[in-house]
Amino acid sequence: MECVQKTSTHVTEYIYGRCTSTGVKGGLGIPGFDSFLVGFSTDTKVTGLDTVPPSDRPPANTMLHWAFDTMVGIGTALIGLGAWLGFTWWRRHDLPRSKWFLRASALSGAAAILAMECGWIVTEVGRQPWIVYGVMRVSDAVTGAPAAFVWTMLSVLVVVYALIAYFFIMLLLKLAARWRREDATETQEPEIRVPYGPRS
Ligand code: HEM
Repeated sequence: MECVQKTSTHVTEYIYGRCTSTGVKGGLGIPGFDSFLVGFSTDTKVTGLDTVPPSDRPPANTMLHWAFDTMVGIGTALIGLGAWLGFTWWRRHDLPRSKWFLRASALSGAAAILAMECGWIVTEVGRQPWIVYGVMRVSDAVTGAPAAFVWTMLSVLVVVYALIAYFFIMLLLKLAARWRREDATETQEPEIRVPYGPRS
C-alpha cells in the first residue's frame, strides 16, 4: 500500500507519487511518518517488500498506492465531517448551518462509494499473486471453462445488474417525486405519508 521496497527505520510516508521497484517517486513525502504510523516512533522498523521473494510480490503498482491514499483521505475527511456535526450538536443541539457542511454532506455519499471501490482495489491488487495467501496463486485459480461460456455468464450478469440499477434509480425518482408532491400540498406532514421523506 505504501510501496515500501526496503526494510528500514525512519521510513518516509508518501502521499500519492509514483510507485516504482525502488520506492515512491514524487508525491508529498513526510520524513519518518510511515515508521511513526507503524509504531508511534520514527525509529520503528517497517517491513518492506524485500522480505518477500520477488516472484511472490505484488506488482510495483501506482494504482494500489493511489487507491489506498484516496481511501484513507476520504475516510479521514468523513471522520472530520462527523466531528463537525458532533461538535455543533454538542454546542447548539442543531445541525451546522454552514452551506459548506451541507455541500460536504451531499458529497459524502458519493465519496464513501469511491472510498469503497478504492478499498476493493487495495485488496484485489495488493493480494497479488495470491488468491488464497500462501496456498493458491491467481494464475492457478483462473477458470478452465471455454471462452464462450465465460462471455455468456458475464453478459447475463451485466444484464441482471443493469436491470437492478434501472429499477433502483426509478424507485428513487418516484420517491423524490412523491415527496415533492406531498410537500407542495402541505395538508399533512409529508414524512407521515411518504416513506423515507426527510423530516422537517
Ligand atoms: C482512515 C480511513 C481508512 C483506513 C486507514 C482504511 C484501511 C484499509 C485497509 C488497510 C484495507 C485493506 C485490508 C486488507 O488487508 O485486506 C482496507 C480495505 C477496504 N476499505 Fe478501507 N480504510 C479507510 C477508509 C475506508 C472507507 C471510508 C471506506 C468506504 C466507505 C473503505 C472501504 C474499504 C473496502 C471496501 C475495503 C476492501 C475490503 C475487502 O475487500 O476485504 N475504507 N481499508
